Amino acid sequence: MKQGIIPDMNDDYSDKNSRLGVLYPGHIEALKARHDHALLKSGASHAVIFSGSPKVTFLDDMSYPFVANPHFLSWAPLGCLPLSYIVYTPGETPRLIYYQPHDYWHVVPGDPVGYWAPHFDIRIVPSMDDIAALLPKDSDKCILIGEIDDAAHAFGIERVNPAMAVNILHFARGIKTEYEVECMRLASRRGARGHVAAEAAFRERASEFEIHRAYCHAVSHIDNELPYGNIVALNSHGAVLHYTNLDREPPDEMRSFLIDAGARVCGYASDITRTYSFDDARFAELIERMDAMQLEIVGKLRAGVDYRELHVDAHRMLGDVLVDTGLAHGDADTLLETGVTSAFFPHGLGHLIGVQVHDVGGHTQNESGTIIDPPSGHPFLRLTRVLEENMTLTIEPGLYLIDMLLEDLRGTPAESHVDWNAVDWLRPFGGVRIEDDVRVTLDGCENLTRDAFAAI
Ligand code: GLY
Ligand code: MN
Ligand code: MN
Repeated sequence: MKQGIIPDMNDDYSDKNSRLGVLYPGHIEALKARHDHALLKSGASHAVIFSGSPKVTFLDDMSYPFVANPHFLSWAPLGCLPLSYIVYTPGETPRLIYYQPHDYWHVVPGDPVGYWAPHFDIRIVPSMDDIAALLPKDSDKCILIGEIDDAAHAFGIERVNPAMAVNILHFARGIKTEYEVECMRLASRRGARGHVAAEAAFRERASEFEIHRAYCHAVSHIDNELPYGNIVALNSHGAVLHYTNLDREPPDEMRSFLIDAGARVCGYASDITRTYSFDDARFAELIERMDAMQLEIVGKLRAGVDYRELHVDAHRMLGDVLVDTGLAHGDADTLLETGVTSAFFPHGLGHLIGVQVHDVGGHTQNESGTIIDPPSGHPFLRLTRVLEENMTLTIEPGLYLIDMLLEDLRGTPAESHVDWNAVDWLRPFGGVRIEDDVRVTLDGCENLTRDAFAAI
């Protein structure tokens, strides 16, 4: 097994002459510069980045799936390397303390090879007892970045995740390197292959469980390798925003299919949603309208756009879709002000994406960590920044039939704007969401998702 890299179908990523291999040196230089700055501001000399420790289930001896510290994962594509450390000292080659235990119960990480490996001073350790000697001696000059459940894993370093350094690193992570964007292009291709397979399974009337399996097979991921739990929702299940049950039997009648599923390459995620009508023309038309609206929003992206305004704009556009498709009456501004659009579209327009599917730093205005609040009435918006070149983010408007929210409109000025007969029509179809991942450019954006579907 490769050193903790999730296996890939077209696994040429480990070659230093591959596209990722060519781009990686620029990435690591950018990381070093960010850490130089974070260390300087924090008055520290070394950053020690801990990959994380496996978590064991209560009263048992089995671990939950391991999730690497995203800081560690952004240095090198080592998603399955627990109990390891990167030590970065400005001006020096970063040291990778690579934990490769003697363990005959499990498959242990293989030897470190790949385009990334020559950029580290790699020290393989078979025992945790070997680690202390490889860490900087001046622990008072270290900051440690990672989740420390057991004080022994901090090796006496007291400054764990200091806010100053973490804010700097998180804010900077909003802007992606060329290497990161290329990882996400590949992750988008991988995800798009899964979506094509999932749609085919839906057309064959497969169950949610079977569709999920077809998806995982096509992207060559087991569940734990997915960037988030797949949402595979038939019919009314599409209205449950985070539906992760998987019915084992197909429904009696196939009406609609909403799938929100991504993939990973070298740790980086894609996050893609598509919605399909089985054979209902009216629902197909609603999907078409939402798709056109989503593309219109994507068309407004460029550096300098305030994402909060884009989110509110999307609500106005949704108001027009609601009116044109007979779900509501009135004008878009009234539907926004009375809360009708929020009842149909109760989540944010999107979020930053990267080594985490919901990447950090979406609310920060600057490296001091000043928070930009979401617009009033839109608390779930995860991205409130002004867009900059090379930010990667999602655009994912939705329209759902959520009775719990629509019922709240009864007895308010909004009630008369809703067409309750149309609501009854939509209920068995659940809802529509269309989600793409994009890279912001100075005068527009690169749509990683649409490009990926076009390429396969
Ligand atoms: N799949 C989670 C999201 O779209 O944010
Ligand atoms: Mn998303
Ligand atoms: Mn999603």
